[in-house]
Amino acid sequence: MTSGNLDSFKRSAALKAVEFVRDGMVVGLGTGSTAKHLLIALGERVRAGMKLRGVATSQETAMLARESGIPLIDTENRWEIDVAIDGADQVDPDFNLIKGGGGALLKEKIVAARAKQFIVMVDHTKQVPVLGGSFPLPIEIIPFGWGSTAREVEVLTKSRVVLRECDGAPFKTEAGHLIVDAHIDRIDRPGELETALNLIPGVVETGLFVGRTNVLIVGTPQGVHTLHAPRK
Ligand code: A5P
Repeated sequence: MTSGNLDSFKRSAALKAVEFVRDGMVVGLGTGSTAKHLLIALGERVRAGMKLRGVATSQETAMLARESGIPLIDTENRWEIDVAIDGADQVDPDFNLIKGGGGALLKEKIVAARAKQFIVMVDHTKQVPVLGGSFPLPIEIIPFGWGSTAREVEVLTKSRVVLRECDGAPFKTEAGHLIVDAHIDRIDRPGELETALNLIPGVVETGLFVGRTNVLIVGTPQGVHTLHAPRK
């Protein structure tokens, strides 16, 4: 499977996701290469006359949205987000996710949590029987005492925890935090792990998105599959 193929599956998932956006909606705009396809497609709708406003989950997305002509809402406002649409790094059979490969997990989770509906677009290679293994769990932490926080994460998860770097320096999130990536073999109980990690002082947020996905759109070589989460 070439990266070009994968990109075409991401794009077809994004084009399906756009069908969920209606005139007048406020849309949470995700971050990453799949979200980029979404922004381009939404931009085309706006140019065709659709009225919508976006809430960007990163500076990169805000820039792409502006380039695509999508008006953005002031991020300090109290939002009424109709639908948030984003990519993911892994998705399990219960639609739980690992996100944060691009480092935007904090804003992504805030926006997903505030949206009436959360739609996730992936290519089929992101689907896994259980989270973890091939993709490390990103965890955003405060720089103050980060080594001790990372150690606590290591003890809790019984895994190798690595400080994320960029160009030889610690990667800084848009909020000025650090990210550690926890190489966990398998995450059998993501909800419990999310809660336990969030109880560690110094942890800001984790890349586990548990019970948040309403619709999962999967781009595959056989076409696009749209799956709805069972109602709780
Ligand atoms: C950004 O921090 C991530 O959560 C992305 O949404 C995730 O990594 C998916 O990225 P791609 O769409 O580029 O695969």
